[in-house]
Amino acid sequence: MIQIKNLRKYYSVGNRKIDILKDINLEVNQGDMIAIMGRSGSGKSTLLNIMAGLLKADGGTYFYGKENVNEMSLEQSASFRRKNIGYVVQNSALIDSKNVFDNIALPLRYAKSSKADIEKKVAFVLAALDIKPLQYSSIDTLSGGELQRIAIARALIQNPKLILADEPTGSLDEQTENEVLSLFKDLNQQGKTIIIVTHNQQVADMCHKTYSIKNGECKLNQPIL
Ligand SMILES: Nc1ncnc2c1ncn2[C@@H]1O[C@H](COP(=O)(O)OP(=O)(O)OP(=O)(O)O)[C@@H](O)[C@H]1O
Ligand SMILES: [Mg+2]
Repeated sequence: MIQIKNLRKYYSVGNRKIDILKDINLEVNQGDMIAIMGRSGSGKSTLLNIMAGLLKADGGTYFYGKENVNEMSLEQSASFRRKNIGYVVQNSALIDSKNVFDNIALPLRYAKSSKADIEKKVAFVLAALDIKPLQYSSIDTLSGGELQRIAIARALIQNPKLILADEPTGSLDEQTENEVLSLFKDLNQQGKTIIIVTHNQQVADMCHKTYSIKNGECKLNQPIL
């Protein structure tokens, strides 16, 4: 499903180039659930942004199926993202001036879905994530765990094949974390491909494979038998 080869990404800071991703190679099959780990600043969010088509790599290739995502125009990658990917970004990135319902409905409004369709789909994810009572709350009144669930609901709203989740349990208490994890597990069992960036070993243990990004490379962690 995903084939990443020799991927490179640097950031320019002043007139210096800082290599973040130097040679990333990664294959993800449909139905996989994988964890990506690594120190803060190692480039995990950068890699997810590239996979989501939000950021262009500076070298190498990224194929999603037969599509060469890194060669797409901005418009093409936006439509690719809408069609295929649910992205739970780090720190949720919700819009404070909109309530919970409108935040979750946002991708559907971009896609010009009908009002009835929006009502139906939002009601479904609200129930799945157990946040129905919050649907008319304003974002700035919610707890970290609630925000996290709303961000996940928004990523799921279009029924994407691939879910990218950047530290989705970062700000959750243990019980909420377990709920979110079992939700990801269910989604995976329903056939979704899931890539989770995490610092949490318990989250990683739940995945089929774990990788670590170190010195700009992505290596498979061998399971401890
Ligand atoms: N737009 C940018 N311009 C310059 N440097 C950047 C930019 N975005 C990220 N960086 C730097 O690139 C490095 C990798 O950032 P990234 O957010 O991918 O790390 P991360 O592995 O997700 O870290 P964390 O675990 O803290 O979320 C960091 O040192 C960061 O400061
Ligand atoms: Mg990050």
